[in-house]
Amino acid sequence: MDEKTLDDIISQYDAPSGRLLGILGEIQNRERYIPRELLEMLSAKLKIPLSHLYSLVTFYSFFSLQPVGDHRVTVCMGTACHVKGAAAILTTLEQLLCLPEGVTEETRSPVTTEDNAFTLEIARCFGACSIAPVLRVDNHLYGYATPDGLPAILEEYGWRKHED
Ligand code: FES
Repeated sequence: MDEKTLDDIISQYDAPSGRLLGILGEIQNRERYIPRELLEMLSAKLKIPLSHLYSLVTFYSFFSLQPVGDHRVTVCMGTACHVKGAAAILTTLEQLLCLPEGVTEETRSPVTTEDNAFTLEIARCFGACSIAPVLRVDNHLYGYATPDGLPAILEEYGWRKHED
């Protein structure tokens, strides 16, 4: 994204309330992550400390500081989901997406498949605990998730079973 595009985005969000989140959301949607150089530019243009921008980006799971794949799969590991089997959901997703088992919890950061099709990550509560365990793919929430039901969900996003 060039500086002129960033200026255009900034000019669309001149209301103080929610301004920063709106601008960051727009950058995330367009770039699929928040590049460091854009954060630095934004910090200089709005005269807001870079550390404040970082704290916002790292607080909200919607934002990512690393490039993400075509589809973002987020598994809730909050207490209600954990109790209802979120760990098995995460492990099964790692297997289906051919990612090293345990990598998502170990690194605590999004992990992307080799073909760049999916990024797997964890979050802490979507506020949908009554339908735990919950995962989100892009902007769609899936409740009462089961390991057996995961292939059908992934297929909606172009995933196909890997044939050896
Ligand atoms: S703990 Fe998973 S949605 Fe609340």
